[in-house]
Amino acid sequence: MASTAPIGVFDSGLGGISVAREIRRDMPNERVLYFGDSANAPYGTKSPEQVRELSDAIVKRFVEQGVKAVVIACNTATSAAANELRDRYDIPIIGMEPALKVACDRGHGNRQRVIVAATPLTLRERKFAVLMNRFKADHTIFPEPCPGLVEIVEHGQLDDHDVVMRTLHQYFDQYDLSTIDAVVLGCTHFVFYRDYFRELLPDTAEIIDGNEGTVRHLGVVLESLGKLAPEDTEGDIKLANSDTSVRIAQLAQSLLNR
Ligand code: DGL
Repeated sequence: MASTAPIGVFDSGLGGISVAREIRRDMPNERVLYFGDSANAPYGTKSPEQVRELSDAIVKRFVEQGVKAVVIACNTATSAAANELRDRYDIPIIGMEPALKVACDRGHGNRQRVIVAATPLTLRERKFAVLMNRFKADHTIFPEPCPGLVEIVEHGQLDDHDVVMRTLHQYFDQYDLSTIDAVVLGCTHFVFYRDYFRELLPDTAEIIDGNEGTVRHLGVVLESLGKLAPEDTEGDIKLANSDTSVRIAQLAQSLLNR
């Protein structure tokens, strides 16, 4: 595969656009084919088998389109499908996981109190249990499934301040937020809520997402294979979606430009 080939990036819907945006910012020479599966979103309340099947169909199509690598811009699909996809396809497949390590490392040895906001499936899968086990002896971790936050993005309600804040309060009022050191945004849809979380949380609580780390990892992998796009090429992002309505196309574009 030539270094000028595109990178396939996919998510259950529009959340992964937050990752595509980061690729555009950090790797401006790369061409990105983004696929959002909004017709089948959310993935986070489906079974692992369903998510594996949907993810496989997307990656199969990317391979037919000649991508040089795939980014699973979805924590949920990574938990359910990444291993199987890596066994099946011989291009690099970059996954995501909640950035719990980043949150815990901030304590420099002091116990951290961390909320991990993610989908129900991500928090139920073995991958997250393994991640929790690495940190739970030394830190206090609160996994919080927030499926409603995925729906709000997919329904185009992200600018509805009342709806968003009401939903955040539903999930987070049970915590004494003044005692929380960090909230990990363990779902790519949630990255669009950064300003709302800032409004909800005291200044002492950090908001952490895995997008930057994922894009950095993508760069390292492509570089090690000699597959980074040449510096004289101009990158772009092509957005596609299984929901072919004008509404979704406009919403996707507005999230990319947000
Ligand atoms: N954006 C996805 C994630 O990062 C999943 C959202 C969903 O479809 O439930 O987990």
